[in-house]
Amino acid sequence: MDKLVIEGGRRIDGEVNVSGSKNGLLAVMPATILAPGVYHLTNTPNLRDVYTMSRLFNSMGAFCELNDNDLFIDTTNMNSYEAPYEFVKMMRASINVLCPLLSRFGQAKVSLPGGCAFGQRPIDLHLKGLEKLGAEVKVESGYIHVKADRLKGAKFHFDVSSVGATENLLTAAVTAKGTSHFTNAALEPEVTALARMLVKMGAKIDGIGTTHLEIEGVDELKPIDEEIIPDRIEAATFLIAAAMTKGDIHLKNTNPYHMTAVLSKLEDAGCVIDVTGESIKLEMKEEIKPVNIKTATYPGFPTDVQAQWIALMTCAAGTAKVTDTIYGTRFHHVPELIRLGAQIDVNGDTATVHGGKKLQGTTVMSSDLRASASLILAGLVAEGRTDVLRVYHIDRGYEAIEKKLTALGADIRREEAEELV
Ligand code: EPZ
Repeated sequence: MDKLVIEGGRRIDGEVNVSGSKNGLLAVMPATILAPGVYHLTNTPNLRDVYTMSRLFNSMGAFCELNDNDLFIDTTNMNSYEAPYEFVKMMRASINVLCPLLSRFGQAKVSLPGGCAFGQRPIDLHLKGLEKLGAEVKVESGYIHVKADRLKGAKFHFDVSSVGATENLLTAAVTAKGTSHFTNAALEPEVTALARMLVKMGAKIDGIGTTHLEIEGVDELKPIDEEIIPDRIEAATFLIAAAMTKGDIHLKNTNPYHMTAVLSKLEDAGCVIDVTGESIKLEMKEEIKPVNIKTATYPGFPTDVQAQWIALMTCAAGTAKVTDTIYGTRFHHVPELIRLGAQIDVNGDTATVHGGKKLQGTTVMSSDLRASASLILAGLVAEGRTDVLRVYHIDRGYEAIEKKLTALGADIRREEAEELV
């Protein structure tokens, strides 16, 4: 297993290209199952999760080829409707092939996704929605079995705003017979981008960008080429790196409109931000002000930036409260930040960060993707050396993070790590 070794104390300065969105790509890849053919996806991030999804596709008879930031997918000769546990356990987003496989083959067998480091991740809405659309749903021996000759349009209200369930059920409704009405649908940019891609494929969807989606089922869709939207979470992570190190950063290939909550909170913390087109500039000269955040569904403050925000608040001149209303136990990064000398108390879904104490480098352990990002950020400002172990977590969602940070002035390198496990 690799680790990242960081010598703290360097300013983050310069320009960086933000990669295509991991969650955007993981949302649109399953849609390529709906229409047999060749798809050329551009601005795709080169990540472990993309490789995992590609391997899952190849196991089902599709053909995926990732060249740097272009992904070619040929779903013409798919010959399996099964997503085995070996893939789903590595990446829960694999559950998003359930509905496209059902639409294409009239049945699907997908392993139940396990939980993850920050708690139980239910999929009840995915299954309830499929039943509403007329599918026969059975869960046995750790697998979801679904069957339907042709789904029927239906009304479905999401009890909870769910990114994955909205994406999955969209790919079921677009070729159902009749019209579906989804209410309390998720608004995340990755959901909107999927809906727009489905329309380009021939789907009929009204209300895109709102919580009420009206989908009129069509008989068939066609393959298309698509550009993946910028990764708003990677962008937020780099902005926070610059803020923590009192740096000056210029992000290119972003969509600032997807990041209004984060940009507003960074300004509250004292950052000077300039947005022009697809570029975001951030300069941080003064001391970091403590700013409370509460995560929320889009366009609120994203839960995927909660861990990085806690890292920033360890450098603030005062105390800040960070509440995660989406995942109330998503705080595995906190004990590791405390090992770096941070003063943080967690009570239920809220972490209280007493900022201002200089962090001291040591060895810390990643537990999940965004937790590892927060440990890397902390290592950038900690005194001395910080080793971040199990960096395979970060490789899931950040393309070549040490190369990008090195180009921005950080002292960070990847090394082999022997671990007694
Ligand atoms: C997506 O996960 C993202 N992953 C997550 O990013 C992100 O944290 C999450 O949305 C919230 O924004 C991908 O897009 C691949 P949800 P997803 O369904 O779809 C509850 C990262 O770091 N819920 O929107 O699994 C659930 O428990 C990852 O990139 C149900 O109750 O999230 C949670 O409280 C981590 N029943 C809330 O909804 C369901 O059937 C939001 O979950 C589904 C979800």
